[in-house]
Amino acid sequence: MRIERRCRSEAETIELATVLGRRLAGGDVICIEGPLGCGKTCFVRGLAGGLGLEPQAVASPSFIICRSHATPRGLTLVHVDAFRLTGADDLESIGWEELLASRDTVVAVEWPSRISEALPQRRIEVRMDHTGETSRRVTITATGALASRLEGIDEQVTVIRRKLGLGVRGSGRSAEP
Ligand SMILES: Nc1ncnc2c1ncn2[C@@H]1O[C@H](COP(=O)(O)OP(=O)(O)OP(=O)(O)O)[C@@H](O)[C@H]1O
Ligand SMILES: [Mg+2]
Repeated sequence: MRIERRCRSEAETIELATVLGRRLAGGDVICIEGPLGCGKTCFVRGLAGGLGLEPQAVASPSFIICRSHATPRGLTLVHVDAFRLTGADDLESIGWEELLASRDTVVAVEWPSRISEALPQRRIEVRMDHTGETSRRVTITATGALASRLEGIDEQVTVIRRKLGLGVRGSGRSAEP
């Protein structure tokens, strides 16, 4: 299943990610790919919000590879920035295999392409691209059992944006580019 939305502000990106975050369960891995400054950390803030955390608690982990946040729902959000990871040793140092095996951990990875060989098959993929100064194209893909996490998100986000008075033209079904 694939969803494509246009997010015309940081707030819209956070809103979309929050809707996804509310649907996540322990064991889920979310990989967020896209160029520098496209909003990957911003997306993780939204996921955190959806998991019941303060979005501001999430900071860019660039210099420390990985940060953990305990959520009120008893899950742990582990935020990994693979930008500076140099190989299997680095992954071992953060206990990567244990993280993937943990049933009460949600793992969000920025720059997943840097560790593509270590990624599990079962994952949600988020692709972000600049489409303007404050506009991003966000594509979310999930297959197999994980596809159910995405069901109805498009409609839900449209309803929320309408309520908030935000633009609703970002729907994947819209005809604009
Ligand atoms: N629609 C948008 N969605 C997300 N961020 C946006 C948007 N419009 C503008 N921004 C801005 O873009 C920047 C995104 O920063 P962020 O740290 O989230 O990017 P990143 O992809 O994690 O960067 P890095 O590659 O360094 O990890 C922020 O300053 C944010 O305010
Ligand atoms: Mg970042």
